[in-house]
Amino acid sequence: MNEYMTLSETSEYIGKSKETLRRWDKEGKLSAVREPMSNYRVYRKSDVETLFFDFLDDNNQELISNFVEPNNEYKVLELFAGAGGLAVGMEKAGLKCVALNEIDKWACSTLRKNRPNWNVLEGDIKSFNFTEYKNKVDIVTGGFPCQAFSYAGKKLGLADARGTLFYEFARVVKEVNPPICIGENVRGLLSHEKGKTLEGMISILDEIGYNVVPVQVLKAINYNVPQKRERLILVGIRKDINLEYEYPKPNKKIYNLKDALKKGDLFDCNVPKSEGSKYPKSKIDVLDLVPPKGYWRDLPLEIQKEFMGGSFHLGGGKTGIARRIGWDEPCLTLTCSPAQKQTERCHPEETRPFTVREYARIQTFPDNWKFEGSIAQQYKQIGNAVPVNLGKEVGYSIIKFLNSYYNLSKPK
Ligand SMILES: C[S@@+](CC[C@H](N)C(=O)[O-])C[C@H]1O[C@@H](n2cnc3c(N)ncnc32)[C@H](O)[C@@H]1O
Repeated sequence: MNEYMTLSETSEYIGKSKETLRRWDKEGKLSAVREPMSNYRVYRKSDVETLFFDFLDDNNQELISNFVEPNNEYKVLELFAGAGGLAVGMEKAGLKCVALNEIDKWACSTLRKNRPNWNVLEGDIKSFNFTEYKNKVDIVTGGFPCQAFSYAGKKLGLADARGTLFYEFARVVKEVNPPICIGENVRGLLSHEKGKTLEGMISILDEIGYNVVPVQVLKAINYNVPQKRERLILVGIRKDINLEYEYPKPNKKIYNLKDALKKGDLFDCNVPKSEGSKYPKSKIDVLDLVPPKGYWRDLPLEIQKEFMGGSFHLGGGKTGIARRIGWDEPCLTLTCSPAQKQTERCHPEETRPFTVREYARIQTFPDNWKFEGSIAQQYKQIGNAVPVNLGKEVGYSIIKFLNSYYNLSKPK
């Protein structure tokens, strides 16, 4: 078993920058040893794990609540709704979804099956006009897929973004004129086109009358989600409103895979049985050799080379490849397909991917939220979602903002 981790792997594993790790080495908080040939820093895996789990234990002390009750029935228009991760989260927080738009027929079918009363508008967002909701909705939300803009070397305006799905998001916000709008996306948006895409989005929201709150990437593990997933949140506040929006406060309590799949604080029973995909025999033979919390580096060298193929020599941590999750850690980010190459998240005790219901639990969907379509479609809907508990905490932050806003604008 390989007992050392490179600087990059350690940085990825414990979620601290390489600079911090170099400093910790100097301070003796986490001492590296030098690789004899290259003189690079490497870390003893056992040291890294001990430190990481000490963090989790330290963190386990405090429970923070963002709970707040809405003063009115606040209405949401949810765009790019998928299977409803964000929508269910916001509903749990106390917001009311008045309409949801989604192009994928299976995702729409999921939404309708679980919430026959929701107004699901199925089809391409481009073909819908939302003016009927003008001044009737308190918040527009949406996880628009990220696409590049073409730049003419100037500040980007709405018309320049035509053809992109962000354009559609902004167009709907303009049509509906809510006090607040929230876009969600992947962390990668920060660096997409060297930051220009995000800059363009902020300037478009500015043009249509919204100030953007400094963008934050929220870590799902801080919001009662047993998964190391991150979501970038883009909050726009209508310019006539002179009020600060505050992101939900991160919780210090971190939940693990065990909390997702077993009876405990998050769920009041063990995960129900359900269908799931399987690994091919060749993959089972390899993953059988990986211990819980282990990954490809735990394989014998020859098998590492064979399994990793061309990636073997590329360097970098790639701690998500041939990964077996441990019960006492949060799960790695789920992808849209558990059979996807080089993103294996194997069950801790059995050599198989997580089942559909296990996937849903790791995303904190309630057990009674059913998914429609083939198994592959179900995994895709779950893998695409904002974790429900993260959506709920974001929901509370919106309610807090709207309570203050309507309090201020009430005739005295
Ligand atoms: C990241 S997912 C959203 C996940 C959702 N917020 C949740 O929490 O479950 C993005 C969604 O946008 C949908 N989508 C993509 N293009 C679209 C379009 N032109 N019109 C409407 N929906 C679209 C996709 O089908 C996908 O479900």
